[in-house]
Amino acid sequence: MTSTLDLSFAPQPTKPAFPMLAFAFASGDDKKPPILSESAIQADAACGGAITQAIKDTEFKASAGSSLTVRCADGAVVIIGAGKAFTPGKEAEDIGGHITAALAKNSLIKATLMIDSDDAAIISGIGLGAVLAAYKFSHYFTKGDKAKPKQRKLTITSPLGRKALTAFKAEKELAEGVFLARDLVYEPANMLYPESFAKRCKMLENECGLKVEVLDEKAMKKEGMDLLLSVGQGSTKKSQMVIMRWDGGKKGEKPLALIGKGVCFDTGGISIKPAGGMEDMKWDMGGAAAVTGAMRSIAGRKLKRNVIGLIGLVENMPDGNATRPGDVVKSMSGQTVEIINTDAEGRLVLADVLTYTLRHFEPEKMVNLATLTGAIIVSLGKEHAGLFSNDDDLSGAITAAGLDTGEKAWRMPLGKDYDDLLKSHIADMKNIGGRWAGSITAACFLERFVEGVPWAHIDIAGMAWADKSRPTVPSGGTGYGVRLLTRFVENGA
Ligand code: BES
Ligand code: MN
Ligand code: ZN
Repeated sequence: MTSTLDLSFAPQPTKPAFPMLAFAFASGDDKKPPILSESAIQADAACGGAITQAIKDTEFKASAGSSLTVRCADGAVVIIGAGKAFTPGKEAEDIGGHITAALAKNSLIKATLMIDSDDAAIISGIGLGAVLAAYKFSHYFTKGDKAKPKQRKLTITSPLGRKALTAFKAEKELAEGVFLARDLVYEPANMLYPESFAKRCKMLENECGLKVEVLDEKAMKKEGMDLLLSVGQGSTKKSQMVIMRWDGGKKGEKPLALIGKGVCFDTGGISIKPAGGMEDMKWDMGGAAAVTGAMRSIAGRKLKRNVIGLIGLVENMPDGNATRPGDVVKSMSGQTVEIINTDAEGRLVLADVLTYTLRHFEPEKMVNLATLTGAIIVSLGKEHAGLFSNDDDLSGAITAAGLDTGEKAWRMPLGKDYDDLLKSHIADMKNIGGRWAGSITAACFLERFVEGVPWAHIDIAGMAWADKSRPTVPSGGTGYGVRLLTRFVENGA
């Protein structure tokens, strides 16, 4: 799916074009009325002062996210509260999200947003927020409004006119990546399984110029990726690994590797999960979705960096052929793992993909994303992803990219005392620690496979799916990670 909003850009009209939207700013003083923008003043004049009158009659204070609808003879005017002022980036994007909400609330199919600023970053940021907020996944509805969500048209007029489109084009490429990740997360596991996911990735060759290679089980067996294969062996669906390459940097520049957990469904395997809420485990491939979406955005924006995206795609099922608790499996790295709990499967998949990345690509740094542990949701809720890293600079750069984009991550500790909890009586390690610090022991497990290369692990179990909407992120699949990773690269990863 894509956005239900069609955006276009045009020069500022000489007189207000109805139905229209324009900004008002909070005065900052409860006793003083909001300050109307230039365009809102024009609209007010065209409406015989109906806007100033409506402001007097209501409690409208122009706080960010509020709106006031005034019906004039020529058509409706929606005044969008913009707070005291807003800056490019997250604030402008959120205002864009509020605009999309206001269009829906007022049932406007077609409207003009008059912006008085000539700042391309502000205009394109509002556009990006509006488009992101208008995302809907309606694929499987067959009846009524849900099957055919209203497509709305918004024309943004500003002193930049059509030139604003140039700045918006890069934002559009970003949104395409976010939408791809959201779509993948939404798809149910009978539709999106390792092979169909890999096919979708293959399409990116034509869509945006990535080079895409798919490894099947035979190829992975040859590489010695038994740990990844041990997760998928209980499923009738064949495991896959996808390698996406974007050669935007100089020849010979060591690549940045982005690695994603792609468990297309996680039943827990023989250590089976309880039935309640198990349907959520269709989005246990959120890390792979984020990496795929980020590769789409990075290629779309033609960023000047060599980036490789690797995703391990499996389905974790109970079966006569499934891995048993207590089984010992050799990883591609040569280290052996005693699988105590088959529900701690994501780390097994990632371990082999990390080793594959090291052996085949000599990465400068590696960042992996995974819906890895329920424990990270206990720690950080749904506000921050958990960030684990063996490198302070890398960790700082990811934290900063998170703050820039609103996809926040909070650093968590690693260390020997946690790592010791993985000791096994029979193999090099167990796949789980004890009862406590579950997200940290999971990260320690991964660290055993990075061979000292700068690495970060982002546990997005709390972020891939949202129960409540935010201004630019509707509830459901969020696409978390696409914007974070794209910005991380743009900031000079
Ligand atoms: N995919 C889950 C983690 C998860 C939980 C993601 C909730 C999103 C929402 C992961 O594979 C898992 O099952 N982890 C176990 C680890 C445990 C067995 C050590 C968990 O978190 O309970
Ligand atoms: Mn699991
Ligand atoms: Zn899982």
